[in-house]
Amino acid sequence: MNTSARSLGCLVFLTSVTGCVTSADPGTLQGTSATADRQPSAEAAHALRVEPNTGPSAPAQNPFAKAGFFVNPQYRERVLETIENVPGKAAALRQVAQQPTAIWLDRIDALAGLPGWLGEAAKQTQAQGTPRVPVFVVYDLPNRDCAAKASAGELHADADGEARYRSEFIDRIAAEFAKHPDQRIVAILEPDSLANLATNMDVPKCAASLDLYKRSVAYAIARLSLPNVYVYLDAAHTGWLGWDGNRSAMAEIYREVLEMAGGHERIRGFATNVSNYNALDGDWGWKLESSNPCPNEYCYVEKLDDALTKVGISGKGYIIDTSRNGVATTRSKWGHWCNVKGAGLGARPEVQPRPLVDAYYWVKPPGESDGVSDPNAPRFDAYCASTDSSSGAPQAGEWFDSYFLELVDNANPPL
Ligand code: BGC
Repeated sequence: MNTSARSLGCLVFLTSVTGCVTSADPGTLQGTSATADRQPSAEAAHALRVEPNTGPSAPAQNPFAKAGFFVNPQYRERVLETIENVPGKAAALRQVAQQPTAIWLDRIDALAGLPGWLGEAAKQTQAQGTPRVPVFVVYDLPNRDCAAKASAGELHADADGEARYRSEFIDRIAAEFAKHPDQRIVAILEPDSLANLATNMDVPKCAASLDLYKRSVAYAIARLSLPNVYVYLDAAHTGWLGWDGNRSAMAEIYREVLEMAGGHERIRGFATNVSNYNALDGDWGWKLESSNPCPNEYCYVEKLDDALTKVGISGKGYIIDTSRNGVATTRSKWGHWCNVKGAGLGARPEVQPRPLVDAYYWVKPPGESDGVSDPNAPRFDAYCASTDSSSGAPQAGEWFDSYFLELVDNANPPL
């Protein structure tokens, strides 16, 4: 995934996981008027219903507080394997191997691993006497990655994708989560999806997915919001939604989707900067886009929280992805999101590092590619061959060894 962008006037801004771009004055959001004018379509007439969840939800608290992070054993092994080729970096790599990283449920087949991860987390929780919290990214929306190509998914609206998303993906995840009622679980839903609705309605695949995305994300919230599961919605990042108009359009979409799901109490909060590179502080963003009121990610979180409060969504917590944001911008355009050269690991995962923030967390596992750089490969997105992107990149999600070592070398704070 990587993302998508929006453009202001002639500037492109950007995104995160998927990759894409469009144009529009940030104050004038395509998307909104198109929605208002729309007549009920044949598709809407046959739309699957979303039953709001009125059952008990997780308590309104930071799920990482008084708990420890669950470390994904597969990520740890992958990092330790790299030591063989670069023994000189062994000490740094051992530190990276201990970091908690999110587990991406990015296709139906990935669910085969879920009982194992949950069982291991429950075992560790029991052994330690305090919760060891795993973080899952739920990422298999029908028509996924509508504004970019690199993370196009397996489910398609015209091939029963909406029903399959529900029965073969979300329902199965919910059933596994429900088997561990005493295990705290965090789920981050569908990076880039709703943000594409806020800003990329001029991309045909996004326009065609407007109601489908809203219903599918609402369904995922309603089903996954369980007493032991803390749900966060993806909220893109400042280089995409930092502008006032984009942020308020986004807030309105969240309001609508949360209402369908059963109310904003169904979620704990929002995740930002997922798979992106924005540093937490400073004014570096103004070198890229001086019109963005938020030149850093923390500013965005504060302003997003204000925008959400205005539409009645309050008391939320935020996760900021700090896996690759250690080096304040190394790109020439904010819209460049794919395997950005010169990036470095950022702040180590940390609980409640500052007001509003539940955790800094490594949501994008460092070392996994954002998208393939070979123009002849399937899912090639031109952003992955941009002047700011590392060459030789494999498909999104696959291990990109040379890039991983660059992130390690540029880590800030240093390892
Ligand atoms: C890919 C996923 C992958 C995730 C984490 C996304 O860009 O599309 O397949 O799991 O990144 O690396």
